[in-house]
Amino acid sequence: MRICVYPGSFDPITNGHLDIIERASGLFDKLIVGVLINTSKSPLFTAEERIHFIKKSCTHLDNIEVDSFEGLLIDFMKQKNATTIIKGLRAVSDFEYEFQMALMNRKLNPKIETIFMMTNSEYSYLSSSLVKEVARFGGCIKGLIPSVVEKEIFKKYNRR
Ligand code: PNS
Repeated sequence: MRICVYPGSFDPITNGHLDIIERASGLFDKLIVGVLINTSKSPLFTAEERIHFIKKSCTHLDNIEVDSFEGLLIDFMKQKNATTIIKGLRAVSDFEYEFQMALMNRKLNPKIETIFMMTNSEYSYLSSSLVKEVARFGGCIKGLIPSVVEKEIFKKYNRR
């Protein structure tokens, strides 16, 4: 069974993430979305909320598991019997850091392969941080995030 992990902060999931999940789910028997609990960052949404949004956005896919992890990605992968990491690449600016992480993960476990998927061009400018910034100041984020997230993000910022 080919098990792949799509890791990230997903704070919150965007339509760019969802596009990668949908396309990658067709390439593997199982796709596990790994939500990082990073104690040195203070996310807008708790890990439970982030997981809930991802699960709600993926109900049309039947081979998706969503779970959180702390510590090293390769340890989470081992625990899940996963052999492939999938990452989305938006622009050349993503490449350098992603390249570093892919090589570090390979150094830590040479059996693990990282595969990059090009983001759909309509989402190439999209990031969770930008969506949060626009929402914080009351801007329109329709079409950028799954609808389940839209209401909740404005609630967090006390805006309608
Ligand atoms: O959505 P993000 O914040 O860009 O995702 C980054 C993530 C979660 C993929 C990356 O920070 C990660 O894998 N963190 C786990 C810690 C780890 O394994 N570090 C060493 C490998 S570079």
